[in-house]
Amino acid sequence: MTKTILVTGGAGFIGSNFVLRERMRDNRVVNLDLLTYAGNLLNLGELNDDAGHIFVQGDIRDRELVRKLLKGYQPDAVVNFAAESHVDRSIDSPESFVQTNIVGTYHLLDEAREYWQRLAAERRDRFRFLHVSTDEVYGSLGPLEPAFTEDTPYSPNSPYSASKASSDHLVRAYFHTYGVPALITNCSNNYGPRQFPEKLAPLMVLNAMQGKPLPIYGDGLNVRDWLFVDDHCDALNLALEKGKPGETYNIGGRCEKTNLEIVNTLCALLDEMAPDSAYVPHCSLITFVKDRPGHDRRYAIDCSKICGELGWSPKETFESGMRKTIRWYLDNPQWVDSIKTGAYRGWILKQYG
Ligand code: NAD
Ligand code: DAU
Repeated sequence: MTKTILVTGGAGFIGSNFVLRERMRDNRVVNLDLLTYAGNLLNLGELNDDAGHIFVQGDIRDRELVRKLLKGYQPDAVVNFAAESHVDRSIDSPESFVQTNIVGTYHLLDEAREYWQRLAAERRDRFRFLHVSTDEVYGSLGPLEPAFTEDTPYSPNSPYSASKASSDHLVRAYFHTYGVPALITNCSNNYGPRQFPEKLAPLMVLNAMQGKPLPIYGDGLNVRDWLFVDDHCDALNLALEKGKPGETYNIGGRCEKTNLEIVNTLCALLDEMAPDSAYVPHCSLITFVKDRPGHDRRYAIDCSKICGELGWSPKETFESGMRKTIRWYLDNPQWVDSIKTGAYRGWILKQYG
């Protein structure tokens, strides 16, 4: 049976990929997004004439609007992607992270509780609130420490991860206190089409395509665990369909790599996929720059729970997913141009000089 899902932040990177996949599954999507610098309706261009996608520009902190959408569309689930998501911006200016990630999640959650409590018994049992979170809440690992499990204590180190940890705690409390059928997923670094080029992978691809320096923080040996965005979206769908309320599921690619490895691989793929570029070999553009303050050294996710209990596993290898990603940026110059607004240029200048 198809569902109606209230998606928040569905014009951003992961949210838009999720919305596109849910429409392929014929689930109706009501998409509430504030359209901050990170939200882009071009991400959803394929759905322009699709009556099964209802886009609403608005803020998750706007309780009246959230209430109206819940009442009007009677969703079977809420999936919360809406967030400020970039660590460097949270270091530069934490306020909006507190506002959206903590206060916004609270308002959304509390409205969802009131809506859920009024549902008829059968629909109440089926309702789900899925909160999309991050592995960064667990803090930083040493080189030999085992990967984060769902039992790893929270130890966030940046204003971004602290705000996400705080929102996770609220979601957990709403399950325990009120019984709201909520689930939390904590995922590792995503890459793929439609990612805003402030994040490592798209920043490097777009800079390399334009012959600009590829700025690597510190010694480039920080480790992240990389996952192709569609694999994340499929895990979220499974968590919605089969996950147990009150549970947390870690999602990761079992793909630990240093930043230097990532950028070298991207450059080698770009050399091959854009052989006429004036900047081959693109790795000659690599530049080491000042480190991020409080830069977490290593993240790694143990995803055995979602693999074992829900039957999920990533389909893309790092190379196959990265090829798809680079192909998408090469094939979508209109999207790339749309990103380069004054606001984006301002951020790049401020961050990289
Ligand atoms: P993104 O920055 O690309 O998109 C965020 C979206 O939220 C944007 O469309 C923005 O307009 C919207 N938004 C921001 N504030 C809002 C508000 N107050 N009300 C309504 N909409 C608002 O982020 P992303 O990378 O797609 O991440 C989505 C979610 O997944 C976030 O919660 C993030 O913490 C989590 N996550 C991201 C990654 C990753 O690697 N990108 C990994 C794990 C978890
Ligand atoms: O782990 C999941 C998290 O991954 C998500 O919760 C966040 O929303 C998402 O932004 C991402 O956080 P990171 O800080 O890991 O991602 P980012 O792309 O900003 O950086 C990845 C690594 O690359 C990190 O070690 C910092 C480094 N880096 C990043 C940028 C932007 C550079 O060396 N140079 C850069 O210019």
